[in-house]
Amino acid sequence: MSCRIVGSLRPNAVLPGLLTACRHRYHALMPSVLLCPPTYFDVVDEKNPYMTRKATVDRSKARSQWDYLCSVLQQSGYEIETIDPIPDLEDMVFAANQIFVGAKIGYGKFAIPSRMRYESRQREVPFFVEWFRTRNYQILELDYAGEFLEGHGDLLWHPDGSRVFAGYGFRSTRYGVEKFAHAMAQMSVDVVPLKLIDPYCYHLDTCLCPLNGEAVLIFPGAFSAEALAAIHKHWKRVHLLTVEEAHRFMGNGIVANSNYITPYITPQLQAILAEEGLKPIVVETSEFEKAGGSCFCLKAFLP
Ligand code: ARG
Repeated sequence: MSCRIVGSLRPNAVLPGLLTACRHRYHALMPSVLLCPPTYFDVVDEKNPYMTRKATVDRSKARSQWDYLCSVLQQSGYEIETIDPIPDLEDMVFAANQIFVGAKIGYGKFAIPSRMRYESRQREVPFFVEWFRTRNYQILELDYAGEFLEGHGDLLWHPDGSRVFAGYGFRSTRYGVEKFAHAMAQMSVDVVPLKLIDPYCYHLDTCLCPLNGEAVLIFPGAFSAEALAAIHKHWKRVHLLTVEEAHRFMGNGIVANSNYITPYITPQLQAILAEEGLKPIVVETSEFEKAGGSCFCLKAFLP
């Protein structure tokens, strides 16, 4: 049976009828997402204000929270891919950070390895590089000259692929972002640097979430005045989270087709999502919050 997609297909959109009609093409149509099982997940040091050495992680609870996140992603139309967890790399579960992934006509699929600020996390990167290399991604190594850049923790694609919003100040550095911007300019992708100023929003993915091509969700208190002006310039609708919502990771949600996967929900966030045609799905991430991460941090979208 042959199947043809008629009309415009939103990136990531899944057409159930079409999938039944041509099941053999199911894989080709289904977007994928990469996660790392929390087998060795733990909190052993203090890399951000959420972490405390006194924290105790309930690993079996972490595993069920992670399993549920995977099943919600699957129900939202994503195929799950995993990378093997490595003993002693307790933060490897945060698969958003080790690499920046993209695809561009003329370049194909590419991955830019991060330079993580903390040595323990630097050791995670080669495992991700290997994972992408064996899947034929072009690996673009940047010369960081001692600077830092933390993958999709700080680098967020605009949904139309035209530009990347780049947070710096706590984990990534301004110069790390500049190196990245230089590489992306060669692919005609703009980079918008955004200075972060709230230590509880140490990664851009904790305080900025693109909801669609026109709307973004932000916590304004996390940005310098110049960064805020840049955000308003680039988005038609800027929705604001309160400090309480932001510090409980409500801006760290995953937009998955028409769902918004979030660790908590409030009436005001619910109203914003309704206005943008998104349905909240609450996925508990309490164990991972002890390490300063939630839904978005636990995965990398694959092109
Ligand atoms: N404990 C991890 C760290 O501090 C958490 C990373 C969260 N990831 C994210 N994308 N915000 O590096």
